[in-house]
Amino acid sequence: MNGPLQAVKVTDLVYWVGAGDWALRDFHGYTTSRGSTYNAYLVLADKVTLIDTVKAPFMEQMRARIASIIDPAKIQYIVSNHSELDHSGGLPQAMEWFKPEKIFASTMGQKALVDHFHFEPATITPVKDGETLSLGNMTLTFIETRMLHWPDSMFSYLAEDELLFSQDGFGMHLASEQRFADEVDPCILDFEAAKYYANIIMLYSPIVLKTLDKVQKMNLPISIIAPDHGPIYRRKEDIGRILEQYSRWGHQKKQNKAVIVYDTMWGSTAKMAGVISEGLLAGGVKDIKVMPMHGSNRSDVATEVLEAAGLVVGSPTINNQMFPTLADVLCYLKGLKPQNLVGGVFGSYGWSGEGAKDIAGILAEMKVDLVGDPINIKYVPDQAALQQCREFGIRIAEKIKTVI
Ligand code: FEO
Repeated sequence: MNGPLQAVKVTDLVYWVGAGDWALRDFHGYTTSRGSTYNAYLVLADKVTLIDTVKAPFMEQMRARIASIIDPAKIQYIVSNHSELDHSGGLPQAMEWFKPEKIFASTMGQKALVDHFHFEPATITPVKDGETLSLGNMTLTFIETRMLHWPDSMFSYLAEDELLFSQDGFGMHLASEQRFADEVDPCILDFEAAKYYANIIMLYSPIVLKTLDKVQKMNLPISIIAPDHGPIYRRKEDIGRILEQYSRWGHQKKQNKAVIVYDTMWGSTAKMAGVISEGLLAGGVKDIKVMPMHGSNRSDVATEVLEAAGLVVGSPTINNQMFPTLADVLCYLKGLKPQNLVGGVFGSYGWSGEGAKDIAGILAEMKVDLVGDPINIKYVPDQAALQQCREFGIRIAEKIKTVI
């Protein structure tokens, strides 16, 4: 069928029917500078099945893509792999438009969808981990992936096409007309996959490793991974790469890299950051990112911290506290639970100096292995203080060498 918006063929019987969101710039606190996609898939099995819906405002786009290949009224089943509203927001509309015979979700998914939309529980048919669903000529197997990304999350595996519908897993926020990973610049893929992992998945790294292990033990051949955001993986090397990245990030393996996060009132903490950075370099750190919080977003800091072995944080003291931008980024990072970090704290102050001390307390709670006490300089660092900062950077670099 013709139409301005088209479905995209993934296999002979599976089509992408999602939506691009080129304007999205914030996803619950995460900057999405390349927008996003909400992927949904139509399986043209004997029982025509829709895998996930899209964010509510994009439902017309999804319906138009479905209508480009079949009459949308032919949809018999909907599978909701994840209840977060970027995937389930369009479900009530889909129910009204398509009138499916059944909607399937995990047991936790059933509860989450009922709590979101106040359906009668019987509206959603719960499926168990490992359960299969016959679509006539095709079969779906459901694999619970609790906490990837929410307690309700599950993968659906389409055996005949060796296709894993992985909802948030292996996704990225990237609006693109290219639907497949092999059509996208690999540097953009690597960056956006890492950013997504750092900001959405890092907290659940131990569960990532268990899930990878569980899927491996199921011995399922996987020829295609179709996530709910970003491109679809269909080449063996691309599937291998994203699986290897998830294994590496799941183990929180670190590089010879350090991130300096700071803010400044009158330039003193900035001066200290610059000299600590040179000390890190002199001590042998290969990759150093200096991130002033008046020009950096918390989600970019999380991205850089993902593979960094060092996290060095500096703040002036204002009103007996750390600078608010540091409170923001530390609150965010603490929630994401980065592991295996060596750290240091520095700052400047006028009369009380709590900023650096409070930061040291938060980093200790995050189990960052701190090098020495905070360097806390009154008003403006002199040459001796700056030399102390340089040596601090060298000491942190030496500690980093022991953990990578
Ligand atoms: Fe893409 Fe957890 O939603």
